[in-house]
Amino acid sequence: MSTTQELPSSVFIFGCGYVGTALARHLLAAGVRVGALTRNAEKVARLRELGLDPVIEGDLNSEDWHAALTGRYDAVVNCVSSAGGGLAGYRKSYLEGQRSILKWAQSQDIKSYVYTSSTSVYPQDGGVMVDESSDTAEAPPTGQVVRESEALLEEAAHLGRWYVLRLAGIYGPGRHYLLDQLRGGAEEIPGSGDYALNMIHRDDIVSAICSALAGRAESGIYNIADDAPTTKAEVLADLAKKLGLPKPVFNPAIVSERLKRRGGRMPNRRISNAKAKAALDWAPKYPSYREGYAALV
Ligand SMILES: NC(=O)c1ccc[n+]([C@@H]2O[C@H](COP(=O)([O-])OP(=O)(O)OC[C@H]3O[C@@H](n4cnc5c(N)ncnc54)[C@H](OP(=O)(O)O)[C@@H]3O)[C@@H](O)[C@H]2O)c1
Repeated sequence: MSTTQELPSSVFIFGCGYVGTALARHLLAAGVRVGALTRNAEKVARLRELGLDPVIEGDLNSEDWHAALTGRYDAVVNCVSSAGGGLAGYRKSYLEGQRSILKWAQSQDIKSYVYTSSTSVYPQDGGVMVDESSDTAEAPPTGQVVRESEALLEEAAHLGRWYVLRLAGIYGPGRHYLLDQLRGGAEEIPGSGDYALNMIHRDDIVSAICSALAGRAESGIYNIADDAPTTKAEVLADLAKKLGLPKPVFNPAIVSERLKRRGGRMPNRRISNAKAKAALDWAPKYPSYREGYAALV
């Protein structure tokens, strides 16, 4: 994790959700001035109570908020999500959102710009290991939009150092989809369990963002995943054992909403984090789901 001295003195966060709020807390504790934009009126007060200042209410994909954001910032973190709405929602938040931030950033003197992208850009199958040089041309439609929004940042390299962090599946305190699935008591788990789950703990994302914010690494794309991709069947069997529940049974004939969004099938590829570990001066504190879920179980 980067030291306080290495962090920029001010950071503006777009998308103060699960990751953005954890990041804000960490930066504030390290003495960094933190501002944020949210669409959510109720969230404005909560973020201000945490110590964020300013907190601006607005929809990222418009430019209405540009006039309200008058201060200058050393660094930007864009960690908005698609916020539902299918492919149109993806275009609105990821693509138009990125475009709007980059336009505003021209009036700033940004030293580092961090974008939390997603490993959903990798379409590979067959259990292969993928790294940042792997082809993304065949990504599903949502992955294509995410890839387009990455490209906007790459094209704006003149603005300062830029970091695309491709995050694996996020879990951590208050977000443990797999535990919920088991505890929900479903007799069968939708889909099949024979593909690799690539996961990353929330706190390891925060430390990776801070390493990028320190701005010492080369601009570029970095995969942020833990060290140990494991099949979903293995992870669920292990967690069920820890919870004292029967070994889960998968039913490939049941297609969940989540699976439908992925074209009915999850890609089976393992994400390499070697580049981030070598170049970002970062390593996950939770190297596998075992350490990460130990505290959550
Ligand atoms: N979930 C995963 O497993 C996963 C995997 C890979 C990558 N990622 C990426 O990781 C990042 C962080 O994810 P997260 O789990 O922290 O997301 P999250 O909890 O859903 O938070 C994202 C925030 O983005 C805001 N947002 C979305 N569209 C916006 C818009 N048009 N204008 C203003 N704010 C907008 C939302 O604001 P409101 O509160 O107003 O809705 C929300 O607070 C995202 O970029 C996501 O795509 C996630």
